[in-house]
Amino acid sequence: MKKLKINRRKFFKRFLYSLVTLQFVYILFRLFKPQKEAADIEKFYDAGDVSFFQKGKMYPFGSEQFYLHRLTDGGFLALSSRCTHLGCTVQFNANNKRLECPCHASAFNTNGEVLSPPATRALDYYPVVFKNNRVLVDVNHPVRRNKHDNSQVKYV
Ligand code: FES
Repeated sequence: MKKLKINRRKFFKRFLYSLVTLQFVYILFRLFKPQKEAADIEKFYDAGDVSFFQKGKMYPFGSEQFYLHRLTDGGFLALSSRCTHLGCTVQFNANNKRLECPCHASAFNTNGEVLSPPATRALDYYPVVFKNNRVLVDVNHPVRRNKHDNSQVKYV
């Protein structure tokens, strides 16, 4: 029986070629694999063209149960209209710029932060992305939070 001889140099050379080949295959796989984010965007709610939303205004989307707040600095924040106390639907009061709950009188500012109890945490928000100058809201994934943070605001 013939014994297979391979010296150390050949072994490392083959090993390096194998690594490079695997890396190349991995890169090709990543390039042609459908991106999860791209697939998910198809399920986002198309709120409208960016230019439609005026700075400093709150826009209700009753059918999707959220408010889209265009901040004065141009950022977008999509707030759930579900009260964080027991889930009633909050209403925007344009006179005092508050979101008010009709059930037990909790109130929230335009960033969703609690102004009046019994609610103890900020309104949930929905991730926002922009595509072809459209505002897309991920209405299937509300984000629970205790307080507002500027990282929750999205800019074009
Ligand atoms: S459900 Fe909104 S305050 Fe109770």
